[in-house]
Formats: sequence, structure tokens, C-alpha cells
Amino acid sequence: MNIGIIVYSHTGNTYTVAQKLKEILDGEKYSATLEQVSINSEAKPGEGNFKFTNTPAVDHYDAIIFGAPVHAFSLATVMKSYLEQLPSLSGKNVACFVTKQLPLTWTGGNRAVNQMKDICISKGANVLGTEVVIWSKSSREQSINNCIENLSKLNF
Ligand SMILES: Cc1cc2nc3c(=O)[nH]c(=O)nc-3n(C[C@H](O)[C@H](O)[C@H](O)COP(=O)(O)O)c2cc1C
Repeated sequence: MNIGIIVYSHTGNTYTVAQKLKEILDGEKYSATLEQVSINSEAKPGEGNFKFTNTPAVDHYDAIIFGAPVHAFSLATVMKSYLEQLPSLSGKNVACFVTKQLPLTWTGGNRAVNQMKDICISKGANVLGTEVVIWSKSSREQSINNCIENLSKLNF
């Protein structure tokens, strides 16, 4: 089974989690591929005036894990726009995670990951799970490990 791990990462945190996830998932049971959504480098985070430079296709994946940062208590606009422009996700199992700086999931984490989930459901996906990774120093390691453990346990 082919799993696509598709992330947008502005400063590299979400990408770091995605790399660890790929290491765990890529093996006998699954073949995991990590791809990045990217935009022109001059665009500032949170502003809508960006141009995509890479929008990974999803049709060849059986299941997909989407990852993105929280920006201004919401899902990063780049990931929101990327998900909205995708074709149907019908029949695909999906999981979503976000990374965020502030401790406590209610400072944008739950809202952002639910935005991802809702867009995926609106495209026909079967959303198996969601995770919020808190990047503040005291919680980071445990939060990353929980995310990876919970996502890798899902029955894609
Ligand atoms: C423009 C901007 C807005 C942000 N807003 C929030 C926020 O509302 N809540 C939060 O917890 N972290 C916020 N952060 C921190 C990022 O979510 C956090 O550092 C995340 O892990 C970055 O992921 P990345 O390195 O993959 O881009 C913000 C960061 C930026 C650049």
C-alpha cells in the first residue's frame, strides 16, 4: 500500500515530524513517500499573495497523511488552499496533523486540524485520525512521539 505524506512546512518543524513518520511507516507493510507543498519564497506566511511552486498529486496514493503548521490560530493558508484545490479524495484513508508553538491545543491546534479534517471529508476522504504537535521546548519530544505513535497505529 502506498502512503503519501504531504506537508507544508514554513520553518521546517512540520517537515521534521513528517521525516520521522516516514522512517516508521516505510517498511514491509507500507511504502511511504514524503512530498512538500511549496510556494514562491518571497511570499510571507499568513498573506494570501503566494504562488504554488509544488502541489503534489494524490491520485497514485492509497492513503495520505497531511501535515501543516498553525498560523494565527488557524490552518496555514497555504495548506488550506492546497487541500481546496485537490480533486476528489473519495475512497482514500486520510490522517492529518498540525504543529504549533504555543502550549495547549486550543490556541489554534484543534481548530486548524479540524479545518484540515473538514476539507478532506468534503472531498470524500475517510479521516482516520488527527494529531496536534506542540513545539514548545518542554512538550516537544513527547508531543512528536505521541503523534508518530498514534498515526502509525492507524489502519490505513
Ligand atoms: C505567521 C505565523 C503564525 C503563527 N501562529 C501560531 C498560532 O496561532 N498558534 C501557535 O501555537 N503557533 C503559531 N505559530 C507557530 C507555528 O505554528 C509553529 O512554529 C510551527 O511548528 C511551524 O511549523 P513549520 O516549521 O512546519 O512551518 C505561528 C507561526 C507563524 C510563522
